[in-house]
Amino acid sequence: MRALPVVVALSTLAFGLAPARGNAPPPRAAAAPTPASPSRAAPPAKRASSLRPVPPGQKAKSSHAPFTDGECSICHQRNDPKDPGPTVKSGNALCLECHDDLSAAMKSRKVKHKAAVEACVNCHNPHDSREPALLLEEPMALCLGCHEPIKKLVVGAPVKHEAMTQGKRCSGCHNPHASDVESLLRRLAFDLCVDCHGSDRVRDDKGRPLQNIRTLLSRNPVHHGPIGNKDCTACHQPHGGGNFRLLINTYPPDFYASYAKSVYALCFECHNDQLAAVERSTTVTKFRDGDRNLHYLHVNKSDRGRTCRACHEAHASKQPFQIRDAVPYGARGWMLRVLYKQTASGGSCDKTCHAAKAYDNSERKVAKKP
Ligand code: HEC
Ligand code: HEC
Ligand code: HEC
Ligand code: HEC
Ligand code: HEC
Ligand code: HEC
Ligand code: HEC
Ligand code: HEC
Ligand code: HEC
Repeated sequence: MRALPVVVALSTLAFGLAPARGNAPPPRAAAAPTPASPSRAAPPAKRASSLRPVPPGQKAKSSHAPFTDGECSICHQRNDPKDPGPTVKSGNALCLECHDDLSAAMKSRKVKHKAAVEACVNCHNPHDSREPALLLEEPMALCLGCHEPIKKLVVGAPVKHEAMTQGKRCSGCHNPHASDVESLLRRLAFDLCVDCHGSDRVRDDKGRPLQNIRTLLSRNPVHHGPIGNKDCTACHQPHGGGNFRLLINTYPPDFYASYAKSVYALCFECHNDQLAAVERSTTVTKFRDGDRNLHYLHVNKSDRGRTCRACHEAHASKQPFQIRDAVPYGARGWMLRVLYKQTASGGSCDKTCHAAKAYDNSERKVAKKP
């Protein structure tokens, strides 16, 4: 068996170039004990897959033009298929010599994938593969193999996001090599999200239709603060999560909820958590009549407290203060109109849940109070 020592030599060389690849168990267990942010930290381990060509008789799904050409010496020191010897150049230089557009991208783009800077062969077999694009593994498994915290979300999260299992999956949103956008995103997250959520046909896992966010935003000019900043991930975790609607914190799923501050932790990430906590105040909110806190009145009930969605639309509205035009009422989806009017010192609601009522949050009103 003449080839054997050469293969050993090659894999020893491989080991030298990409230190943790080879048969040794991935160094994952020994790594950083408790990551501060569950999805950020965790230095991913390296692959342990073989870089040998697909054995004769097995079908390859993709193959590399210079390899199918049969001239091993394009990359190896010898042209003998049984004993091609070490590669002519080490590391990524070998690949980037031919892939000059990628070489330019790896140089010029602001965000570079550490895995690609380290070694192209972390993910690609230089010869051929049973997977597309010469990948060493099924594409999503490949990514999840190094990104354990994301794997936990994608595989184990109670609320799953179909974007993870649809189309190009991870690569649909991320460029595996380099990008000018943070987190290796192909485009701004906002644009990625609105692309898929710009359709009336998206349904959640229970079959309920989801709002067409593109239409919603274009028809409703008053955009909620973070939406104005094009920041969908200020509130949503794209990979999967434990909260209703992939929210980054708790928010009640139904129209009514029994009040506790913790139930609205999402909103209180950014807004005053006293807003509905106290019955009387002239400071915690402007939704008050004199010092009578109307947030408290509507929301703070042990039984059927109205959730924020009774009046506010999370993404965009026509009215100021994210006040919605109509509220879904009853089980059959009938929309009850909210005729809100802003006034110089407060506002009024008409023919909604109750007959016309107005509030006055001016200093005058507070002063007048007996
Ligand atoms: C496009 C460049 C390229 C071509 C063409 C190429 N190889 Fe390779 N080959 C590589 C690289 C890169 C490695 C990994 C070497 C390393 O890790 O340092 C490799 C490694 C190998 C290994 C060792 C695999 C392992 O897991 O240790 C074998 C065997 C091999 N090549 C056979 C061949 C044969 C046979 C041909 C010609 C039919 C060929 N190669 C053509 C780039 C190429
Ligand atoms: C001698 C030139 C040459 C070298 C060296 C080379 N490639 Fe390629 N590669 C090509 C050509 C030609 C193609 C096919 C045309 C294209 O897609 O650009 C290709 C295609 C690819 C593809 C796409 C395959 C597909 O099915 O979509 C990948 C991935 C790839 N190369 C990775 C590598 C890696 C990794 C290395 C280094 C180990 C490397 N290449 C070295 C010439 C080269
Ligand atoms: C983290 C894994 C990973 C690493 C590391 C990696 N790639 Fe890729 N590469 C991919 C994936 C995934 C695709 C398929 C992308 C898609 O479907 O759009 C791909 C596609 C390609 C293609 C096909 C054309 C394209 O851009 O889509 C080429 C060529 C390529 N890679 C070359 C390289 C080279 C050269 C390196 C080293 C600088 C490298 N890759 C490092 C994952 C990786
Ligand atoms: C061989 C291991 C490995 C593989 C495979 C891998 N990654 Fe990574 N990835 C890393 C490392 C290392 C980092 C840098 C982590 C850090 O700096 O904390 C990283 C970082 C990232 C980042 C964050 C980049 C940033 O700057 O914020 C994203 C996004 C990412 N990878 C996506 C992917 C996707 C998508 C795939 C599959 C195509 C993939 N990774 C496959 C090792 C890997
Ligand atoms: C729907 C688009 C989308 C898909 C699909 C997607 N991601 Fe992400 N990913 C994002 C966005 C957006 C961010 C930035 C999150 C932020 O800024 O809070 C991100 C961030 C990351 C990060 C770095 C920050 C972090 O949260 O650790 C990694 C690693 C990552 N993604 C890996 C993956 C992997 C692996 C897959 C495939 C299983 C995947 N992503 C699929 C949109 C996506
Ligand atoms: C590739 C298409 C695609 C992309 C990109 C995408 N989504 Fe989705 N999203 C879906 C589909 C399909 C569903 C419905 C099935 C489901 O619930 O997972 C969905 C569901 C959702 C849900 C409701 C989840 C539930 O079950 O309650 C939210 C919230 C969401 N997406 C937010 C986002 C955000 C934020 C982004 C951008 C970071 C984004 N999506 C990007 C396809 C996509
Ligand atoms: C300020 C926080 C916040 C931001 C920013 C945000 N969302 Fe949401 N999103 C929510 C809340 C809260 C819900 C649940 C609304 C409800 O059920 O009343 C939701 C629900 C959704 C749903 C499900 C809609 C349905 O019909 O039930 C989708 C899809 C969605 N968001 C996508 C996006 C996209 C895309 C972006 C960026 C353009 C985005 N979100 C930005 C808070 C936010
Ligand atoms: C990521 C931070 C963030 C989260 C989470 C968030 N908001 Fe906001 N919200 C803002 C910003 C920023 C503004 C704009 C403030 C300004 O223009 O002064 C705003 C404005 C508002 C306004 C209008 C106030 C005005 O003066 O125009 C309402 C109402 C509102 N948010 C309700 C909510 C509700 C309800 C939730 C939970 C579903 C929520 N917000 C979650 C950041 C957030
Ligand atoms: C019964 C309707 C109603 C409900 C329910 C409601 N709000 Fe409001 N909210 C309003 C009105 C009306 C305003 C505008 C007050 C004004 O005139 O400035 C407002 C204003 C706000 C503001 C701007 C700052 C302030 O307090 O003046 C925030 C933030 C806000 N609401 C958050 C919430 C959150 C979070 C919830 C759920 C816990 C919620 N609202 C529930 C009607 C409501």
